[in-house]
Order: sequence, then C-alpha cells, then structure tokens
Amino acid sequence: MPSTVLLGAQWGDEGKGKITDLISSDYDYVVRYQGGNNAGHTVIHGDTKLALHLIPSGVMYDHITPVIGNGCVVDPKVLTEEMQMLEGEGFSCENLRISCDAHVIMPYHIDLDGASERHLGKHEIGTTKRGIGPAYEDKAGRTGIRIQDLLDEKIFREKLEAALAIKNQVLTKIYGLEPYAVDQICEMYLPYAEVIRPHMAETAQLLNQELRAGKNILFEGAQGTLLDIDHGTYPFVTSSSCCAGGAPTGSGVGPKAINKVLGIAKAYITRVGSGPFPTELKDEVGERLCKVGGEYGVTTGRKRRCGWFDAVVSRYAADVNSLTDMALTKLDVLSCVDRIKVCVAYEADGKRYDYFPMQHSVLYPKHVTPIYEELPGWEGQDISDCKTFEDLPANAQRYVKYLEEVTGVPASIIAVGPERNQTIFHGWESR
Ligand code: IMP
Repeated sequence: MPSTVLLGAQWGDEGKGKITDLISSDYDYVVRYQGGNNAGHTVIHGDTKLALHLIPSGVMYDHITPVIGNGCVVDPKVLTEEMQMLEGEGFSCENLRISCDAHVIMPYHIDLDGASERHLGKHEIGTTKRGIGPAYEDKAGRTGIRIQDLLDEKIFREKLEAALAIKNQVLTKIYGLEPYAVDQICEMYLPYAEVIRPHMAETAQLLNQELRAGKNILFEGAQGTLLDIDHGTYPFVTSSSCCAGGAPTGSGVGPKAINKVLGIAKAYITRVGSGPFPTELKDEVGERLCKVGGEYGVTTGRKRRCGWFDAVVSRYAADVNSLTDMALTKLDVLSCVDRIKVCVAYEADGKRYDYFPMQHSVLYPKHVTPIYEELPGWEGQDISDCKTFEDLPANAQRYVKYLEEVTGVPASIIAVGPERNQTIFHGWESR
C-alpha cells in the first residue's frame, strides 16, 4: 500500500498541480488534507488548461477517486462552481468524496478575513481573503460548522444561530459591517448542501479500508512548508498544516501508511503575501524571473515576489517533512540569467546560520545577509525540449547536482516547461 505525500517545499506556488497531474495516474486516490480554495493549481490536461482551487487534481482521471479530507475547509459555493466548471469541460465529479468532518467556510468568515486584514493595515498578512483563517479559528474554537452539520437543516440552523450571536456583534460593532440573518444564510447554503450530499463520506474509514485492500494514495498538499501554521514563518502563514505531518491528521490515515514524501521546489523561489524572504530580489533580475516565469497567482492574480533558490529553506523542508525526493520545477526559467546564485547559509548580526533560524526576526533584511554560491548559467539556451538529464546543458546538470548536494535530497523529477511532456524523470518511482 504505497502512499506518497506531495507538498510544497517553499512558500507555495512551486508547481504542485503539474507534478500531481503527472504522477497521479499511478494512484487510486488523490487526497487534499488541508487548506481550502486559497490554493490554486494550474493543470494542463491535453489541450485543456484548468485552474483548480479546491478539488484534488486527480479528478481528471476516471480511475482516481478524489477526496477532500477532514483537514480541509470547504466553501460550498466555490465547490459547486468548480464541479460545474469541471463537468462543463467533460470531467466527471461523480467519484468526488468529501469528508463529513471538513469545516465549512461561511460568508462571515470571508467578511472577517477582509476586515481583519484592513484592520492590520501595514502589518497585514496578505491573505487570499477567502475566509480560510477565520474558518480554522472557529474549528479550533469549537464553534465551526462541519459538512455533516450543513447536511442536516435542523442542526445547521442551530449552529448558525449560535455562531451568528457572536459573529454579528463582531461584524457590526468592531468592523462596522452588515450582520447576517439565519434565514439569509440558509437560503444561500442549503441548496449547496444538496450538491454536496451525494459526495459526503466518512473518508478516514474509506481510505483506511482502501489501503487495506492494497490501493495507493497520493496526498496532495496545498500552499507550502514555509506557510505551515507550525513550521512556517508565523504569523505570515496560512492556518493549516501544509507539512507532511498534516497528511495523517487531515485525512485520518496513520503515518505508517506513508512511504514517500515528494517536496516540490522551484529552481528559484517565490512568495506571495507579506513576511520575511531572505533571498528576495528587488532588482531587474527579480523582475525578469517574474516576467519569464509568469509569476502571478492562480487564485488572486497577485504578483509573486521572486528570489534565488534558498538551500537553508530546502534543508529545513527536508527535515520537517522527511523528504525522500524533490521535484525541481521551472528550471527552464533560469535560461534568462547568465549567472545563478544559491543561498547556502545566512549571516545575521555576526552569526552564521546553516539551519533555519529559531528567531524569525533574523530573517528580515535589516539583519540577514544571504551567503551565496554563484554558479555559471546556460543563458539563452532553450532547455524546454530536453527529455533526459543528459540532454540538459552541462551547466544546468551541474546546477541540479549542486542543489541535490546542498539540500541532501535527490531531484528525481525536473520540470522544464508547463506541459506534461516537458518533464525529465530522473529516478522517480511512485512505488
Ligand atoms: P490565507 O491562506 O488566505 O489565510 O493566506 C495566508 C498566507 O498564505 C498569505 O501570505 C497568502 O499569500 C499565502 N497563501 C495562501 N495560499 C497560497 C497559495 O496557494 N500559494 C501561495 N501562497 C498562498
């Protein structure tokens, strides 16, 4: 019963959608274990380019059962629209299974996400404003509404009434926003319940049964290691466990079921939203990477901050996730620069950090200076048609080998373009 966790090894947007799509045909189940529609996966399937936010990428394959696990937060409106979009493109959502324990994003969560960001002003987190944080706050505060509650009108009304008694006070008195009425939300949400009903399942039980029957699971992480609520650059993080440890808790499958952890890392690095970013390039090279790499968010369209590959981040990601493999994406984008830098350590206040620093204040520009190794590039050489590692220019091979050395993780998949066939398999085995 080989199972793999596939996750972001940086600050998200590493190209997880493409890699999931590539390897998912080897699995029977593709499971989202955290996050909600703050994620944005671009998947190119044949001639169709799709942006998925909530539904696992495996939905495009008939033999795969896509699962939204208990660790996720679900906006029923977005879910319904995404299902309609997929059906419209000819992909059936019939197999989709949604955990009865996943939490529901309510309209007031979305309002509160926006309002709290406005309230933070220049200290804003830079959230996707999809209500993710407030929904997880309610989950931890034990006042959340779960999928199973939404599907029982009596319980839904009761829970909603209790929630609104507080939320309306906060909305009106703290943020000066409009309150909600129970009937108003019921009118919006109960029709979604009927869309969800045929898909609701006890997904932990389902997955464990299927593992026993010899089926394979791919756990599809969203966001990235440095956006993890525990291991990321708090508070500039998302509100869930993006790391490999989130897969068991967010799905109900025990940790022993996992035998591979594939970390997706861009050949450079990007971040959206606020927060420290030691190797950020605020110069023309950063602009070039952004332009050539098309670094604009799938979910919000925001411009991503770009920087050099940070091996300190990657070594940390290797540790906290037990990475067994790395998929290096967008190597082709680096054809736009003549020399390539890799951050191997940080220097801050007279001290060298080879490991991710305990005090995150160290990561800010007024303290940190990245220590770079500079490698020769392959500027101007189009590598997007390379099919094998040996097809790559010598300096590109050297760069990949160097990253394997400084991170301690084999780069067993290398992406040289957005299409499925623009991928070099360099030792990856799903089983
Ligand atoms: P939230 O997840 O919307 O609460 O946003 C919290 C932080 O995570 C912000 O910095 C977002 O930009 C970031 N974030 C959330 N989802 C993604 C993603 O899919 N890719 C990259 N960053 C993300």
